[in-house]
Amino acid sequence: MSVAKKDYKRITTKSLIEMKANGEKISMLTAYDYTMAKIVDTAGVDVILVGDSASNVMAGYETTLPITLDHMIYHASSVVRAVQRALVVVDLPFGSYQSDPKEALRSSIRIMKESGGHAVKLEGGSEIKDSIKKILNAGIPVMGHLGLTPQSIYKFGSYTVRAKEDEEADKLIEDAKLLEKLGCFALVLEKIPAHLAGKVAKSISIPVIGIGAGGGVDGQVLVIHDMLGMNNEFSPRFLRRYLNLYEQMTEAIGNYVTDVKSKDFPNANEQY
Ligand code: KIV
Repeated sequence: MSVAKKDYKRITTKSLIEMKANGEKISMLTAYDYTMAKIVDTAGVDVILVGDSASNVMAGYETTLPITLDHMIYHASSVVRAVQRALVVVDLPFGSYQSDPKEALRSSIRIMKESGGHAVKLEGGSEIKDSIKKILNAGIPVMGHLGLTPQSIYKFGSYTVRAKEDEEADKLIEDAKLLEKLGCFALVLEKIPAHLAGKVAKSISIPVIGIGAGGGVDGQVLVIHDMLGMNNEFSPRFLRRYLNLYEQMTEAIGNYVTDVKSKDFPNANEQY
């Protein structure tokens, strides 16, 4: 049963702003490959994020830092080929936008041209405002990302909840307002107190999509491998698992191994 308030044939940045204005929550999930993106899009997810979390879940790195712009373009172009309805947002990876606005624009142009993605996402606030302006001036939609910003993990030292203290919370509110003023079409808030995230969502007109930021925001995002239970090592409080694919897939693959070894597979009907 759909609980959508309006039937969008194709989601644009304007659709998301309209959803917020109409009180319709926005659904967002990550995807990194063609097959998964096709399922996510068909299921009716509004925004597909080609996240730099691909560095963790696809490549097995401990952090998001190693993934490159070429890798992100590869993942994003696979996703774009599958998608008919969702808005596809692509993360600018670590090192592709921090050094100067021209580099940020060059990286964003490569993503848009070579992957066909619809928007880019960057982590940070006032410290990257010139880069955001430069990208927006080229007509490329930008999604912000504040709170726990995994590309800064070595500055934070851990993946714990951010902005619990007033000083960091005040800076986050200021940054959210700045991103709205610069012209970002939406903002991700990761792992911050729910009351703070709700306050931010109320104080700006662009949609705020939360991950570990409570229900007072305008939409939710999860990493697809986590919500499908494809790994059993990551269990933060905010994660709701809709399947336990790690166990189901391990069992199915184990059954295949047994069938091959026992010569049960293939049977007479499974050959030519
Ligand atoms: O890379 C990613 O998957 C993200 C989400 C956690 C928002 O940035």
